[in-house]
Amino acid sequence: MADEQTQTQDGAGAGTTQDTLSVTDNRTGESFELEITDGTVKAMDFRQMKVNEDDFGLMTYDPAFTNTAHCRSEIGFIDGDNGILEYRGYSIEQLCEHSNYLETAYLLIHGDLPTREQYDAWAFDITHHTFIHENIKKFVEGFRYDAHPMGMLEATVGALSTFYPESKDIDDERQRYISAVRMIAKMPTLAAFAYRHSLGLPFIYPDNDLDYPSNFLSMLFKMTEQKYEPDERLTRALDNLFILHADHEQNCSTAAVRGVGSSRVDPYSAVAAGVAALYGPLHGGANEAALQMLDRIGTVENIPDFLEGVKNKDERLVGFGHRVYKNYDPRARIIKQNVDEVFEVTGKNPKLEIAVELEKRALDDEYFTSRKLYPNVDFYSGLIYEALNLPRDMFTVIFAIPRTSGWIAQWLEMVDDEEQKIARPRQIYQGYRELEYTPMDQRSEGEPHQKPSTPLSPEASAPA
Ligand code: CMC
Repeated sequence: MADEQTQTQDGAGAGTTQDTLSVTDNRTGESFELEITDGTVKAMDFRQMKVNEDDFGLMTYDPAFTNTAHCRSEIGFIDGDNGILEYRGYSIEQLCEHSNYLETAYLLIHGDLPTREQYDAWAFDITHHTFIHENIKKFVEGFRYDAHPMGMLEATVGALSTFYPESKDIDDERQRYISAVRMIAKMPTLAAFAYRHSLGLPFIYPDNDLDYPSNFLSMLFKMTEQKYEPDERLTRALDNLFILHADHEQNCSTAAVRGVGSSRVDPYSAVAAGVAALYGPLHGGANEAALQMLDRIGTVENIPDFLEGVKNKDERLVGFGHRVYKNYDPRARIIKQNVDEVFEVTGKNPKLEIAVELEKRALDDEYFTSRKLYPNVDFYSGLIYEALNLPRDMFTVIFAIPRTSGWIAQWLEMVDDEEQKIARPRQIYQGYRELEYTPMDQRSEGEPHQKPSTPLSPEASAPA
């Protein structure tokens, strides 16, 4: 807290010199000693730095939060340099090898792996909350035939809050648990209903005998057969994709869930904000763009020309590069292993040959290696979704299904965190002040209506 900081003139102050930051405000000549904790300084500690008593105090400016930790978390850990992603301390490699998505969701939400009994109770609860209210079905039917399934998902998840008004009691442990179970259970149903609606096909109700990924595939693809039983290799690949997409610490959609949830709204509304954020092409849409790129390349022979275009910056090699992973994306490595298994069942997609060759050539090329550009999670995942016969606008929806457990885990952590308050960033105001209102009939087009009585000045930008 700023108030607890010791303001000094001579560099002496709180803490030892090793874990403090000395700052001199050259406007005033005053020096301050700020505490460094966990590799961070508190933005609020700068507020005490003022040019005079009326000054609001110094703020930090960080558009897009590229260097601001907005929470403490025990959920997901990323070491980008070494290609490590862990959930609650367990590597994704171990989870993909030994666990399944439902157990991983339990781990994220509860903080530890379940005992056999706890797992059975969790799986039972999830399986028995997969049905949705019939009115939600009517709601889905109200969308146009060509409505984007992600738009439908966003709206239906938000609508769930109106079906469960008791979920607003977010201080009630039981309500929180039931909301978490309901969302993880119903997300595949909502996603599958959106898909069937876009095809004009009848909705397929959940099948409690099937496991989580098989039930989802059944709701997507079941036609006249008595029972839909997908090949185990397909469900395993889908389950692995679910595990790999379950959490990725503080990204755009997770920050949206935390930010909206910080107003203490119900969790369905907070998760709907996460779905909305994921809908954007810069977040959930890169796997679709990767397939479009492979389509454009067309044949292996065109790869050299394409890569030349990338190096000339006419193109991006979609599915390569990552803001955090600078050696490799550990999720890409696991997905690649699943691709072969999936194609054993579905038959080879000619795009795979192009993707493999493209990766090989890029990894042999100094342009890409010197910039630390390696395949990311989206390079191969689109190929699996396509092999499963899913249309491209469903890809982001499939990302949202497992990310729901990560969002809820983050929401629960946020709600219990005593350091958190309603999210309320600051701004640097750069607009006019104290304008005189011009009556409408005295305004003419092309004439500026904003005639400042006070010219813009540094004082005008002081935050309120
Ligand atoms: N193809 C070609 N050049 C690239 C690429 C790429 N995919 N990514 C980065 N570069 C180049 C970039 O032009 C720059 O070169 P130079 O130094 O000559 O200007 C250098 O590499 C550094 O690029 P950057 O834009 O500073 O890197 P970034 O960390 O800001 O960008 C990224 C990360 C993911 C936005 C970017 O790599 C990219 O656009 N990749 C393609 C889109 C994609 O696959 N997105 C999915 C990300 S994984 C999903 C997730 O976890 O969210």
